[in-house]
Amino acid sequence: MKKVITYGSFDLFHEGHYNLLKRAKALGDYLIVGVTTEQYDESRGKLNIVDSLDKRIENVRQTGFADEVIVEDHPGQKTEDVQKYNIDIFTVGSDWIGTFDYLKDYCRVVYLDRTKNISSTMLRAKEFPIQRIGIIGTGRIAERFMPEAALVSGVNAQCVYNPHMESARAFARKWGIDACEDLEAFYRASDIVYIASPHGTHYAYIKQALEHEKHVLCEKPMCLKREQAAELSACAK
Ligand code: CTP
Repeated sequence: MKKVITYGSFDLFHEGHYNLLKRAKALGDYLIVGVTTEQYDESRGKLNIVDSLDKRIENVRQTGFADEVIVEDHPGQKTEDVQKYNIDIFTVGSDWIGTFDYLKDYCRVVYLDRTKNISSTMLRAKEFPIQRIGIIGTGRIAERFMPEAALVSGVNAQCVYNPHMESARAFARKWGIDACEDLEAFYRASDIVYIASPHGTHYAYIKQALEHEKHVLCEKPMCLKREQAAELSACAK
């Protein structure tokens, strides 16, 4: 009996996954499919998996091509599995060409042509459009915000506003984003407004951003007077 193994996240299960599993199964008699855990995906830089592990496993099962589904949760597991399950063929899509050649010491390695124009990344982008963050203020806190924002999936720091245009330009150059000269252009380019300007300016910026129907994230204090806080809450609601 010829045993085949393949691995993947199989997030938002799509035609490319189906084709891959079908051809993997056709390579032998018994197909084992390894589905990655969220934690393992995160450790290799995939931070935005949408479907739960259970759902991804269920979708693989439903194709009817997998004789066995296992969970992949640590680096080095492929080598262990290939030996443990007496695998004859390891296979994955052609986007991985060369990456798993080290398994040739244990079994045949086959890279199958990837299905064109479809991927989980594409589907995730369609389902959850990237939220553009506009930053007001260019001081110490805004500087700390930038490297952290870069680690959050689904958002993109897009542009910056500071009435002192020279500060905005310097900040924009440093972080590779756009500097907006006027606030209307700034609101057009933002879905979320992050406010890190001097305290006394928070109220007016929050109000304006809400009036432009933007999500607002503001550094503390939100504003300086109780009535302002009540007004802003009502406006946000
Ligand atoms: N695959 C394929 N054709 C596609 C997409 C994926 O043959 N269009 C294959 C991959 O090469 C891999 C398996 O399907 O062998 C599982 O891939 P996975 O990484 O889960 O899917 P992707 O759509 O590539 O996911 P992402 O966009 O998150 O990288």
